[in-house]
Amino acid sequence: MTGNRTFTMIKPDAVENGHIGAILEKITAAGFKIVAMKYTQLSVRDAQGFYAVHSERPFFGELVEFMTRGPIVAAILEKDNAVEDFRALIGATNPAEAAEGTIRKLFATSIGENAVHGSDSDENAAIEGAFHFAGREVF
Ligand code: CMP
Repeated sequence: MTGNRTFTMIKPDAVENGHIGAILEKITAAGFKIVAMKYTQLSVRDAQGFYAVHSERPFFGELVEFMTRGPIVAAILEKDNAVEDFRALIGATNPAEAAEGTIRKLFATSIGENAVHGSDSDENAAIEGAFHFAGREVF
């Protein structure tokens, strides 16, 4: 069974480059409803916890430094088949491999600074959403 919620972040590179509005427009135009959203900045401890699954990867330090260098937009999105459909909307992790018209093709600059996050499973969508939002912040 597929779930109807996913979690996203507009990452520091896309915020710095002024793309918050354009990215939210793409997300809502694709039929996703925003059920939670905040503008916030991750601490080093937050980023290390959120990306703990990548802690042994060679790029972990770079990833934590990048994700903490400025504000992000965190959101929970609702749509049928949300995880899969959102990953299609954002495109491949590496923007050089992302399909035309995808958010990463349009707004990302590199595999590390790739503009947006999208959960990779229903289970992780629930974990990541709960990491950022209290129950009363989800509508
Ligand atoms: P995301 O899929 O949202 O979550 C894991 C992040 O790690 C990924 O986006 C990239 O930002 C980053 N990442 C993945 N692979 C690399 C890599 N080879 N070099 C640097 N960063 C990476």
